[in-house]
Amino acid sequence: MRNIPLILVIPLIITFSCNKDEKFVLSFGSCNNQNLPNPMWKPILENDPDVFIWGGDIIYSDTYDMNLMKHNYNRFKNDSSYAYFREQTEIMGVWDDHDYGLNDGGVHYSKKDSAQSLFLDFFDVDLENPRRNRQGIYHSRVFKTGGSSIKIILLDTRFFRSDLEKDPSGKKRYIPTSNTESTMLGEKQWAWLQSELENSTSQFNVIVSSIQFLSKEHGFETWGNMPHEVKRMIDLIKSSKARGVIFLSGDRHIAEISSTGIENSEIELADVTSSGMTHSYESFTSEPNAYRVGKVISEKNFAVLRFDMKKNQITAEIRGEENILFEQYVVKY
Ligand SMILES: [Fe+2]
Repeated sequence: MRNIPLILVIPLIITFSCNKDEKFVLSFGSCNNQNLPNPMWKPILENDPDVFIWGGDIIYSDTYDMNLMKHNYNRFKNDSSYAYFREQTEIMGVWDDHDYGLNDGGVHYSKKDSAQSLFLDFFDVDLENPRRNRQGIYHSRVFKTGGSSIKIILLDTRFFRSDLEKDPSGKKRYIPTSNTESTMLGEKQWAWLQSELENSTSQFNVIVSSIQFLSKEHGFETWGNMPHEVKRMIDLIKSSKARGVIFLSGDRHIAEISSTGIENSEIELADVTSSGMTHSYESFTSEPNAYRVGKVISEKNFAVLRFDMKKNQITAEIRGEENILFEQYVVKY
């Protein structure tokens, strides 16, 4: 047994490294009150993620006082459990309203340039990076996995977003607008997104939006408050021919997975919502969402996406404290 022929050993090594490269694990979470304990760092690491993505509300800092916002970021960044987590995995992210600085805030928030600088400081983006010289925190990154790749496209749904239409009946907070001049991303970001999708050679394209893309009946913030922008996105996904598109969203302090087919195409479009790492909508009872698959999770949660390059599928999981698995859904492309 001491002299195993080399010809038998080499194929074993090659098989092992191929299998490893055909998998990629993305973890995702949002809504982290810096004054509350976050019990998710350990269970997230138990999933051995290749990257963690913030879906917004990294801190709660509704303010026009930028010294206070800086203090809140630093307080959280130096928290020992997050400091340890940062050393263990890659981290990227977008903001939502409470780290942007204004509840449900959009284009008119007067401190958005300063807030952007603090956001980029939090992520240690260096001063020469072009992201320092453009408005908005949108950006992208490609992760190589063996012979294939995954593109992560991170949107800014705050900096350019037009005012939302309030529900005059008062039953809901917002209603879908018929004003087709209103925008979710602004023209520059739309042009950038178009180029990101059209030029993508990746097997999977993950679009991170702080607010939900598919679920739209609840009356809170959602892409559905601008139906013309939803149509524009779906038309772009179709025309770009970008492969394996999936949305990640947060904001709601619940988790749910939504999915729909796209007309006249083979495309399944899923939106994995995970929100509430430190606090969640515990009193949640029900709300309609025609696209929901499975159930709503109102306990504290995070999400894990397991990419299988060989099977060309993503297994989306909603998990919680102690790494408990609440829900699992497979998207096949
Ligand atoms: Fe939140």
